[in-house]
Amino acid sequence: MKINFKKPTNTKDVLFVNINSKNNDEVIRENGVKTLYLKCDEKMTLRKFFLLVRKMVVTAKGAKASQIAFNFSDFSSKGGSALGSKFGITDEELAEIIGTQLDFANYEFNEYKTKPKEGFGEIKGIFILDTTKEIEKNILKGDVIAKEVNKTRSLSNTPGGDMTPKILAQKAKEAVFHLPVKVTILGEKEMKKEKMLAILSVGRGSDEESKFIIMEYWGGDLPAQAGKKNKPIVLVGKGVTFDTGGINLKPSSSLLGMNMDMSGGASVIHTIALVAKMKLKKNIIGLIPSVENMPSGKSYRPGDVVFSMSGKTIEILNTDAEGRVILADALTYAQKYKPEVVIDIATLTGAACVALGERASAIFTEDDELSKTFEDVSERAGDYVWRLPLWEEYENEIKGSLGDWTNIHNKDSRYGGAIYAASFLHQFIKGTKWLHIDMAPRMVSISGENLSVGALGTPVRALFKFIEESK
Ligand code: BES
Ligand code: MN
Ligand code: ZN
Repeated sequence: MKINFKKPTNTKDVLFVNINSKNNDEVIRENGVKTLYLKCDEKMTLRKFFLLVRKMVVTAKGAKASQIAFNFSDFSSKGGSALGSKFGITDEELAEIIGTQLDFANYEFNEYKTKPKEGFGEIKGIFILDTTKEIEKNILKGDVIAKEVNKTRSLSNTPGGDMTPKILAQKAKEAVFHLPVKVTILGEKEMKKEKMLAILSVGRGSDEESKFIIMEYWGGDLPAQAGKKNKPIVLVGKGVTFDTGGINLKPSSSLLGMNMDMSGGASVIHTIALVAKMKLKKNIIGLIPSVENMPSGKSYRPGDVVFSMSGKTIEILNTDAEGRVILADALTYAQKYKPEVVIDIATLTGAACVALGERASAIFTEDDELSKTFEDVSERAGDYVWRLPLWEEYENEIKGSLGDWTNIHNKDSRYGGAIYAASFLHQFIKGTKWLHIDMAPRMVSISGENLSVGALGTPVRALFKFIEESK
């Protein structure tokens, strides 16, 4: 999708959008020109605005147009609509949002489909008129953001057979090719040296070698020069390339979609690529423990006790609670960087979906200020989150009898599963500022969001905003 800041030369496949109308989302044809009269809600909010921008794309596709044209001034304060002021954002922010949401809505995962004669029907060109240089800059910035979000979606959407830990590691390298990001891949031998036995245990049942992906972007002054300032932000992403549940094999209905259990890892890869592309003067580290959770004669078993890198032992009560086991070692590893803050992102529990439905990721932290900041950037980015408790009391139910900590509720209760997973992770990162994002609820889009089915690429936009605005 190419963004142009001039009039389209050929108006044949163009859908002109007019948002000042009170009409009801009608496409009208006059003299061979298609115009969409897009209804703009009187009580516009930022959330509704995201949907509105995406609706332009969805409607254009429906009308078999391959190009869209509109006036930016229809939205801006300059043109008198001052849409952004209704929900407290500037024209520049409005421009960034438009740039992001257009390409976000245009995305479809077609890599495994035969191309129809007439093509796949994506929008090929956008013509945005009546802009300023500053507005154009922000629209293009939004577009760069969307491109990384969409690449995140493609990694997640890739079938499990084509997305192994080795391939994910390769994709991490490709994502930052020619960018100043150092990528180091630890194989099983290297992980053994680091005593990352929790990751190795989960990956042992698979024929695919487990990998630990390390991405380092030192865009700011180094902590050594800047003193306490500029300590890195470490992002940790769950990279389970297929989650069968292991010996606690999932039922058939739960297996489909488990190729996307590396979505947290994918979001880390492309957040770092985005930060590097935007040349942010920040220090950001990405860590992705990547395994395939398979049942076999070599698999780890229920009842096994695993020695994690931290020295703490993990009593495995269920091999399907594998994400938290691999993240335990990654969170331990994260502390080597003496980080300012650690954020982990994981499709960790179905219980988070039970708690929140499919509209918000669950977040957990002990730090109220960090929580507020993240809730704020997430809302503005459209990666919605909701905070759940991380109280010490919950630790009683994950104390082990054989080992230190059990990887599920020690009486196998189904209540509060997302919280027990968070509380388990907490044991491996105490004393460090930390936020946990259980993104299982937002792994895929839901109907009515004006987005194609499949992976959503959350929370790349929120992470980027968080990093961009961090001090
Ligand atoms: N990857 C799953 C969680 C998940 C489920 C993500 C559905 C996205 C959609 C995770 O590894 C898992 O299997 N969790 C179990 C934990 C249970 C065994 C305590 C779950 O949620 O059922
Ligand atoms: Mn699982
Ligand atoms: Zn999983």
